[in-house]
Amino acid sequence: MIPFLDLQKINARYTEAYHQKLDEVLHKGWFILGDAVQQFESEFASLCGARYAIGVGNGLDAIALLLRAYIQLGRLQEGDHIIVPANTYIATILGIQQAGLVPVLVEPDPVTFTLCPLQTKRAITPKVKGIMVVHLYGQRASMEALAALAEEHQLALFEDAAQAHGISFFGSYCKTFSFYPGKNLGALGDAGAVVTDDAEVAAQVRLLRNYGSPEKYVHSLPGTNSRLDELQAAFLLVRLPHLLAENEHRRQLAARYAQGINHPQIQLPQVADPSLHAFHLYVIRTPKREALQAYLLDNGIQTMIHYPIAPHNQAALQNSATDALPVTEQLHREVLSLPISPVLTFEEQQVIIDCLNAFPG
Ligand SMILES: Cc1ncc(COP(=O)(O)O)c(C=O)c1O
Repeated sequence: MIPFLDLQKINARYTEAYHQKLDEVLHKGWFILGDAVQQFESEFASLCGARYAIGVGNGLDAIALLLRAYIQLGRLQEGDHIIVPANTYIATILGIQQAGLVPVLVEPDPVTFTLCPLQTKRAITPKVKGIMVVHLYGQRASMEALAALAEEHQLALFEDAAQAHGISFFGSYCKTFSFYPGKNLGALGDAGAVVTDDAEVAAQVRLLRNYGSPEKYVHSLPGTNSRLDELQAAFLLVRLPHLLAENEHRRQLAARYAQGINHPQIQLPQVADPSLHAFHLYVIRTPKREALQAYLLDNGIQTMIHYPIAPHNQAALQNSATDALPVTEQLHREVLSLPISPVLTFEEQQVIIDCLNAFPG
């Protein structure tokens, strides 16, 4: 059996280092906002080429807290509209709503799966005050075109980089990350971060994540409790130095899939520049998705669908009015994620490629 993502094997490589970190934290006896959080924030910020990283509880909170910071600073008002790709993971949309803002769902480019600049331009109205880009599957969205649009219309631009740790970023826009265990940089539980060059935004997010508290028992605004856990920060410090090498292995796997897969019913993902792709997921398209997924499973290969139901078709979002989203719906019917990970070997991958090419469908 080739699993979709072997989290046991991924983490087994670091077991000893994790135990050592646990011992260190236990020995210090400081479990909230300690040295490990600070050190991780500093190392992760420099990996992103940014001045500040603020560790928070998870990726959803990172999105909501970043947007709340913008509201606190008077840069956005509650009720403002924020453009977001319709084919994202639902957290991006929920984060916008949780900050008191209104998501405007926009179709992706069917070739790159990321926000389409042309459709984004069409969706701009006087109520739209920001764009939340998502680097879906790890591929950097069309940042040049979207940044130009944001500048022309004076919109705030944000990046949901939950799937794109370690790529080279464009400009210095505020970013949010998730360190959910399955991510390219995964913790051993929930964790997230906001990354920014903007000292005011960093200070607001720092307050908001910790009860709006600039010092113990003083509360300057009604914040929440969404601190990056000290132990998770310590575990993330173990994995961080290996991220770029792990991403490189993913890139090699992606190149081999692109070279090796050859089937009339399978459309490969288009990648303009592999250095702008973290290959969190390797997502093919096929009109025969259900048959292909069942066939692969019969042959011992586990795949996943990211995502089977489009956000606008989820009961959770039934109240948000949206126009028809045919591109998004078609993608949700056709996408299939193949195994890709830092521990998938080329030999295992060859089995997958051979199996795909022999698909009778
Ligand atoms: C694109 C995207 N945004 C946001 C999130 C939310 O992150 P979390 O699960 O840490 O809340 C995720 C992952 O789960 C994601 O893939």
